[in-house]
Amino acid sequence: MAVGRIPENTIEEILSRIDIVEVISGYIPLKRAGRNFRTLCPFHHEKTPSFMVSADRQIYHCFGCGKGGNAISFLIEYERLEFPEAVEALAKKAGIALPESQKQDVGTTSLTTQLYKINELTALFYGSNLDSPPALSAKNYLLKRGIKEESIKLFKLGYALDKWDALIGHLRAKNISLSFLEKAGLILPKESGGYYDRFRNRIIFPISDIKSRVIAFGARVLDNTLPKYVNSPETPIYTKGKSLYGLPAATDAIRENDYAVIVEGYLDFIIPYQSGLKNIVASCGTALTTEQARLLKRYTHNVVIVYDGDMAGELATLRTLDIFIEEGMNVRVVCLPQGFDPDSFVRKNGIENFKQKVQQAQNLFDYKLNILKSRHSIKEAEGKARIASEMLPTINKFKNAILKSEYIKKLSEELNVAEHHIIEESNKVKDDKPFSAPAQASAKKALDINPTEKLLIKMMLEETETINRIKEHLEPADFQDERVSRIVSIMFDFVAQGKSVGTSILINHFAEEDISQIISESVFLEVSSGDKDRVIDDCIQRLKGKKIKLQRQHLHNQIKTAQASGDQIRLDSLMEEFHQLIKKRD
Ligand code: CTP
Ligand code: MN
Repeated sequence: MAVGRIPENTIEEILSRIDIVEVISGYIPLKRAGRNFRTLCPFHHEKTPSFMVSADRQIYHCFGCGKGGNAISFLIEYERLEFPEAVEALAKKAGIALPESQKQDVGTTSLTTQLYKINELTALFYGSNLDSPPALSAKNYLLKRGIKEESIKLFKLGYALDKWDALIGHLRAKNISLSFLEKAGLILPKESGGYYDRFRNRIIFPISDIKSRVIAFGARVLDNTLPKYVNSPETPIYTKGKSLYGLPAATDAIRENDYAVIVEGYLDFIIPYQSGLKNIVASCGTALTTEQARLLKRYTHNVVIVYDGDMAGELATLRTLDIFIEEGMNVRVVCLPQGFDPDSFVRKNGIENFKQKVQQAQNLFDYKLNILKSRHSIKEAEGKARIASEMLPTINKFKNAILKSEYIKKLSEELNVAEHHIIEESNKVKDDKPFSAPAQASAKKALDINPTEKLLIKMMLEETETINRIKEHLEPADFQDERVSRIVSIMFDFVAQGKSVGTSILINHFAEEDISQIISESVFLEVSSGDKDRVIDDCIQRLKGKKIKLQRQHLHNQIKTAQASGDQIRLDSLMEEFHQLIKKRD
């Protein structure tokens, strides 16, 4: 069961007080469609809306990718929250206080709150240092690199003094314990005992999360000594590869432009941003991750990756872009001229030229193919095979069958190889997923539930009376799908206890996504209005008939075996059973 330490009735209370329409429209615009609401699905890429929200049932369901659930599931899926965090967020909205002890369970709140606070104070301290006399060379460095005052303020840039204990001294005076500072990754233990500041004599780039809370720091030397950058380690509030530098300042522009430019470095972000290209984020030098793709996906499905000139043709780097395809996003790639990164390109050629480069970005397929064509001869068998083996893993990442088949077609034309050969190769590489993320994201999972069973679920959820009626005729085990039997069994339990069965509450009783999906799918099932009672009776008969048919088949097989082995006694008893069964049917 998904319910953790928070009592079930508290969760039910919360679910009954909030409105899923309000929750979801806090993130994405909802349009009324009859009794329901409709919008483009935030969980997969689509052009026509198939994401439905039911105010009556307090659930959502996407007919494109199959995702569905209640308000809690939505927050877990959309905000990437853990179950207790999602419940806590909704409790707040509903004005329901969770008991203090349960809040403690919600991911050690007090430690993380402390860490945010410490980082905030630290960023302020580094920021104020920048205006002090010892920071003169640091300040000059920033100005020399073309960073404007407004950017220094906006991105809270700072300076760590050339001392071993400047931060320690500052925060100790504010009564912050060293153990917290260590957990924040700001200080390191000395071998001789005591601690020292991690960042010294460096320019500081605070890294913020989407709520603009400082979660980590990057720190650059003022000259060319190595290492050029020192970064915060992972802490309870910072995981590498889960954030994007500059994102909170860029979200509005990303939404407006409906695409995001992704660069690598801090300066590569700041210089274009302050020059007017604001739909930009930086990955901070690491390979892009699924988490980062999903972060961006909240605002757009389109990304343009800008690589430094000397990155041209790095296939290993390009392969990491497949994660965007897996997330159903469109990826385009720009490679700057040799020797340039976005920072130096913009400073030399101006932002308009940079924007033009971005406009001319090639889609990943073409970009990759061009690189491969420059390396292997597309006219020779060996070259064709090499190119195909590099292109196919990318093509295989498309979850959309139409896109996938289009690219297979394109590849077959480019290589001048029959499509069925490409498909054959494609099937070979299918299971080879070196860069795929653990999560499955937007795949459409066909659950293949018998429509009769779905229809019954829908009707049971509409009226408790229907549950009683079905209970008279069917057992949970009469439903062929094991997951459906479990849903039915819980509904039977509910009515046995005299409880009403709220759809969103029912969902809460299962941790499996599949089950939420079955429930939400059933709710939105289109039924021709007519004699409800007759429909229910028909469904019951059909399930019963199905059961008998299965039993008959089974008996039939047993009879055949008995005949073959000449076991007359067994045959007689089986025949008797068979006749009983046929009688029952009529
Ligand atoms: N990076 C890092 N640690 C390093 C090197 C790089 O964290 N030792 C990250 C930084 O976020 C950096 C980005 O990778 O901004 C890109 O690295 P690089 O291109 O080497 O640096 P630039 O951003 O171009 O830095 P600068 O222009 O100041 O030399
Ligand atoms: Mn640079």
